[in-house]
Parts: sequence; C-alpha cells; structure tokens
Amino acid sequence: MRWVAAVSGIVLVSAGADQEAVLKDLMPRGMVIGVAINQRQFEGTDAPAVDLITKQFNQISPENVLKFQSTQPAADRYTFDSADRYVQFGVDRHMQVVGHNLVWHSQPGAWVFQGADGKPADRETLLARMRDHIHTVVGRYKGKILGWDVVNEAIDEDGSMRKSPWELGIGDDYVAKAFEFAHETDPDAELYYNDFNLEKPAKRVGVIKLVKDLQARNLRIDGIGNQAHWRLDTPTVAEIVDALVDLHTTGLKVMYSELDINLLPNTPRDADPALANPYANGLPDQLQQQLAQRYADVFRVFMKHRDAVTRVTFWGLSDADSWLNRGRMNYPLLWDRQRRPKPALDAVVDVLRSARQQR
Ligand code: XIL
Repeated sequence: MRWVAAVSGIVLVSAGADQEAVLKDLMPRGMVIGVAINQRQFEGTDAPAVDLITKQFNQISPENVLKFQSTQPAADRYTFDSADRYVQFGVDRHMQVVGHNLVWHSQPGAWVFQGADGKPADRETLLARMRDHIHTVVGRYKGKILGWDVVNEAIDEDGSMRKSPWELGIGDDYVAKAFEFAHETDPDAELYYNDFNLEKPAKRVGVIKLVKDLQARNLRIDGIGNQAHWRLDTPTVAEIVDALVDLHTTGLKVMYSELDINLLPNTPRDADPALANPYANGLPDQLQQQLAQRYADVFRVFMKHRDAVTRVTFWGLSDADSWLNRGRMNYPLLWDRQRRPKPALDAVVDVLRSARQQR
C-alpha cells in the first residue's frame, strides 16, 4: 500500500520504502526491534495483527499481562493463563521475550499495600510480598523470558525517589531488594530499570544515581529502559542524544522500551472536544509528514549511537492498539487503524536502509 496525498491538486506518491520491507531484517546487528502486544494478539484472535507482528518484529513486551495485578490479583492467588500465552507467543516465534514489570506503584491490587486493621503494610510484610511475587513470577518463566523490567518508574521529576507505596513502606532500598530477589530467582535473566522523561536532566540525574547505587551494591543490572513516550517537538533531538550518551556512561545498555509519538494536545478532561480531539476525522497530511520526519529523526539517533542501543520497542502495533487514544483519536505508531503502513514506516525503513549502506 502506497501513501497517496493530494497537494495543490497534484497527486504525490511517497518515494519511500516498499511494503515488503521487514524491520527486523533491517536493524543493525545487536539491536532488536519489538512491540508491546495485547491479549487479542497473543491469543491469536486478531489474526492480521499476529501476521504483522510475526513478520516485522523479533522482540515482544507484554502491554499489561505481566503486571502485578494480572499475575497476582489476590494475596493467595496467582493467575498465569494469559501470561503463559504471551510468553508462548514469543517462544514459538523465536522472539526475545521481555517481562514487564515486577515492581511499580501502578497496577497492583490495593491489597498489596494494606496491613492489618486498615493500616499501611509494614516493611517486613511488603518485603515478604515482593519476594514471593518475584520468586513466583520470575521462577515460572526461567529460561523463557530474556530480561525483566524489575522496577518501573521509581524516580520523581525532580530526581528524588518517588514516594510510591513501595518506597514509603520499605524505604529507598526497595529497589535494590527487587533486583536481588529477581537475580536469585533467575541468575541468567537480564535485569532492567525502566522509566520515562529521561531527557529531563533533573530526573536523569536521579536515575543515574539509582543505577550507580545498584552497581555499587554489586547487584546485577543489564540495562536502562527509556520509555520514550515522546511528542513531535519534545524532547528535541539534541536532548535525546544527551540523554542517551549520559545514560550509557553507566556502562549499561540503553533500550527504548515503550516508543510512541503522541500527536494530541495535553488538555484538561473537560476541554472542548474540538481542542482535545482535533483529528477525530483523520490526520492532516502535514502532520502525517511531520510524524514521519520525527520518526526518521529518532531512528537516525538510534543508528548513529547503535553501539549504545540494544533494543527499540514500540508501545503498541497500530494506531488502533495504542494506549494514547483514551477515547480520542491519536496516531502515534507506524501502522494506521486498518493496519496499513503509514509514511512514518517508510521513513523508518529509509533510515535503516541508509544506515546499512553506510556500514
Ligand atoms: C499502559 C498500558 O498501555 C495501558 O493499556 C494500561 O491501561 C496502563 O498502562 N508506562 C509503562 C506501561 O510502563 O506499563 C504503561 O502501559 C504505559 C506507561
């Protein structure tokens, strides 16, 4: 499918990549390309999506199914039906299977942080719950999951430790404990720290400090996941480069773990729909082109710094699948709602092809 646009009455056909291009074959050695997948995809009910994922990607992340609430909805109950199918989807296709995530303030059941008599759980209780959860979940997928986002989003925007229920109940060393529990369960698994807004210097300082603290404790940590939930203009390319170079000074691999480009304005909940949902009837060509340009720019950074980057994962397959819609019409990914390739896909393919020629 070619992208066709009418500009001043002249029909232009994009001079981009052909539809046979396969992202995973175009990536440089040592860098995988992946996608976060959802229930309909790993259960096979969304067959066109399964075909696309199988053809284009060599790594998967679980959009929701390995989060605390999904795998352990109650203190005495683990549920692995969906998670098993997610893992098997990747194993069957010889893909790198990532686990996301073990410890986060979001998406655990409320029971996790509750102690006796309605009081918050104390340090020992929380550590015991964390240990049991990590041992059970990581243990189940030993040898199948290549690496885990052990802790997600532990740092606040000002670089301090986020006052999450884990931190409040256990103390700052909850992060170290989580890495310790994961490593003792599966010594071969890669372990990652994952967070967003790492292009903001204050936050990045906090993340690097945290990572260095783990390293000083001789704990295994293999990579930093930079979520990369970005917009068209922010962060700038220069900021993306600065962050990458800086994060890599820890000696760790950098992974773009949740890439998407949000095209919608940040509006309050009660905003006028015309402002909040401006592309409800389709994306103007100019923005389509800007999105393609943006993806080209960020992939150029990944190619230039390919020694530091080991993985790029999109947070969703097509615009229809993206978490960024939330009742609005967003266009953050490389395939449109009908799973047709967008100019952004052609732009990425072009960048990958020229990077190969320059090697
Ligand atoms: C999101 C999922 O995409 C949504 O379906 C869910 O409702 C909320 O979580 N950072 C993360 C991801 O680490 O786990 C989040 O995923 C997006 C932000």
